[in-house]
Amino acid sequence: MTALKVPSFEEIVHITRKQEVTTYNNNNTIIPFRIAQSQKHSKNTKKRMDAKAESPAPEVSAAVIHPAVAPLSFLLGTWRGQGEGGFPTIHSFSYGEELHFSHSPNKPVIGYSQKTWKLSSGEPMHAESGYWRPKPDGTIEVVIAQSTGLVEVQKGTYSAEENVIQLQSEIVGNASKVKEIRRCFQMVDGKLCYDIQMATNTITLQPHLKAALKKL
Ligand code: HEM
Repeated sequence: MTALKVPSFEEIVHITRKQEVTTYNNNNTIIPFRIAQSQKHSKNTKKRMDAKAESPAPEVSAAVIHPAVAPLSFLLGTWRGQGEGGFPTIHSFSYGEELHFSHSPNKPVIGYSQKTWKLSSGEPMHAESGYWRPKPDGTIEVVIAQSTGLVEVQKGTYSAEENVIQLQSEIVGNASKVKEIRRCFQMVDGKLCYDIQMATNTITLQPHLKAALKKL
């Protein structure tokens, strides 16, 4: 029988110190000191990032709006209002809605997010978000991910003079019924108005939604 060796006081201090800066991975091998240092570094980086997260988002001044985005800069900001929905196969309904269009300085893209709610209770309904990419030649492509799981790639045109944007789906993905989506946005008397039509596997292109939103 092998006798157990009692560690000396110095050995215990050494092991304890070592354990302060080391740990064991799944193979039961020691992760060296530099890994512990890198974890400390990550913590410090997180602290710095948290501090940055608390600082306000940079203002988008006219000077840094990307030239491709400039014709649609009237969209930037938050819009809120009400809409109405319907389709031959469902009961018509009304809803509250908020749209937000954002722009990161000097990027040729507009960030888009939408949320809707029941007017009676405020309960959330549909939501979606994506990116609008206007091109200098008056064409635009838009990608949208819906809360239902459906995704859209839309292509179309815009007119900066008439403040109109027309979009036609090129791809509708991960959808059980929807085959086609058409979206049209237009400024009418200072309100952002839109209508959305869709075609399903049983119904040809018909209106599903329309709304008028005021800028906040
Ligand atoms: C492009 C965006 C949207 C698409 C593609 C879409 C698609 C659909 C489809 C395929 C249906 C089922 C139709 C059928 O059963 O024949 C439906 C129903 C419905 N949608 Fe949308 N939808 C969109 C946006 C919205 C929004 C923004 C709202 C809410 C504000 C909404 C609220 C509803 C409601 C309440 C129904 C009826 C549900 C029911 O009675 O079971 N939809 N939608």
